[in-house]
Amino acid sequence: MISTSPILEVEALSLATKSHGKLVDNVSFSLGKGESLGLVGESGSGKSLTLRAILGLLPHGIEQIGGTVKTGASSAMVFQDPRGALDPLCPVVKQLAEVVYYRQRVSRKASRSIALELLEMLGLPDSLQKADRYPSQLSGGQCQRVVIAMALACKPGILLCDEPTTALDVTVQRQIMETLTRLQHELGFAMVFVTHNLAIAAALCAKLCVMKAGQIVEEGNTLRLLQNPTNPYTQMLIDSVLPLPELEGNGHSWN
Ligand SMILES: Nc1ncnc2c1ncn2[C@@H]1O[C@H](COP(=O)(O)OP(=O)(O)OP(=O)(O)O)[C@@H](O)[C@H]1O
Ligand SMILES: [Mg+2]
Repeated sequence: MISTSPILEVEALSLATKSHGKLVDNVSFSLGKGESLGLVGESGSGKSLTLRAILGLLPHGIEQIGGTVKTGASSAMVFQDPRGALDPLCPVVKQLAEVVYYRQRVSRKASRSIALELLEMLGLPDSLQKADRYPSQLSGGQCQRVVIAMALACKPGILLCDEPTTALDVTVQRQIMETLTRLQHELGFAMVFVTHNLAIAAALCAKLCVMKAGQIVEEGNTLRLLQNPTNPYTQMLIDSVLPLPELEGNGHSWN
């Protein structure tokens, strides 16, 4: 059997501010190469702070007061709010090429062609090859793809996604999820996917951690967790996924 030592190990991580005490409390999980883990939970439960601790980019005033984060590969983050994550004054191909230039240390010319290859990989329109456009000239879904391309330009072994589809409509959400799954197979990165949407996390990730008030209240294999939740909060999250109303009998006449 191939040994799969974790590419990411978070152990007993605790984060706090001086005035508000603990915000993330004793959080532990691990992730193997190419695996994906969903971090789900209500607003304010500590999901984004956990991702930022992994990235090594805690906001000012937040301190790691305990635990360790061990990474076996570089990580990159896909931020929530794609438009806000892009520079509004710089056309997108140029922005992406700039990231490639600094992270991959290639020539200016090569960085532009790598940027265009990345955009093609993410299914962005060919028209960007001919005429570059500003973020305000792209749709929300297109901006999100550019932001994902930027993270991938860093060639991460671990991709940290912070609610990357929350601001998008459901059809674009699905397209982005399918793109991420395809790219994960092609490029082999491990992924931590933060969302408050249990259905999205379950569709993308084999393992789930449920967070509440800074702590992991339940974790495990996605199917096991959905079928046999042991924590009442997990059960409540499952119950709050709205089912489509069942359409009555095939012979129903709509008149
Ligand atoms: N820069 C900061 N300074 C002080 N407190 C903060 C800061 N950032 C986050 N917090 C607090 O830490 C807690 C966890 O925040 P975090 O952003 O990790 O939540 P979240 O689970 O990502 O929520 P959401 O789903 O709304 O994005 C919250 O109570 C929040 O108010
Ligand atoms: Mg957040």
